[in-house]
Amino acid sequence: MAEVVIVADEDAAGALVADAIVSLIRSKPDAVLGLATGSTPLASYRALAHRIAAEAIDVRGVRGFALDEYVGLPPGHPESYRAVITREVVEPLGLTPELVRVPNGDPATIRTAGADYEAAIDAAGGVDLQILGIGRTGHIGFNEPGSSLASLTRVKTLTEQTRLDNARFFDSPDEVPMHCITQGIGTILRARHLVLLAFGSAKARAVAAAVEGAVSASQPGSAIQLHPHATVIVDEAAASELENLAYYRYAWANKPDWQRT
Ligand code: PGA
Repeated sequence: MAEVVIVADEDAAGALVADAIVSLIRSKPDAVLGLATGSTPLASYRALAHRIAAEAIDVRGVRGFALDEYVGLPPGHPESYRAVITREVVEPLGLTPELVRVPNGDPATIRTAGADYEAAIDAAGGVDLQILGIGRTGHIGFNEPGSSLASLTRVKTLTEQTRLDNARFFDSPDEVPMHCITQGIGTILRARHLVLLAFGSAKARAVAAAVEGAVSASQPGSAIQLHPHATVIVDEAAASELENLAYYRYAWANKPDWQRT
């Protein structure tokens, strides 16, 4: 079972994520981070940037792999995930740009981009800690419902719902690309620690399906149940449809010191 932690707000979640990543980097200065985009992880990146600066943590060796990228946006487009990762993660954290990869959404090389990305993750020794958001459709990365639980990095077609959800970043919904390249669910499951974040009532159903529903390609988030070390950090609104809420609170309140990382 995933460990479910219910927090007051995004900042409280960010503090927990920053704790986990700081302790990882202290024990492994060339740690490999799995990076999510979207609104959900932003408080975590802010908290982590603050810790890195305040504690003068050397992150020059830290490596990163983004989960996904749109296919076909012009290079340098401000909403390409390459640009978002540079703006929200690489620069504020002070990471070494060459050590942070994003899947390549250039249509000219898209046929081999998935295999190349898998090879790069393998060559890095795999992802140590993967940050995940979850879409209202239940997607993790851009693995929309129906994605194979064994899938690797490849091109997917975004659902209309996801394109509408992401239209806020573009001038109009029509500008949101139809296709993306995303780490597969099989790729994500190979990371050594999954940290899934969700905030707000719009995510409550997807969270309940991921944590307590049947494991199914129809609910890609449910793949976290197959992982031996998954942490789900949610606010009260995102937790509101969980059945075993009382138990999650009880387990967290009584977590043994030796188990805290
Ligand atoms: P959001 O997206 O963080 O912008 O809500 C999450 C996701 O689609 O995975």
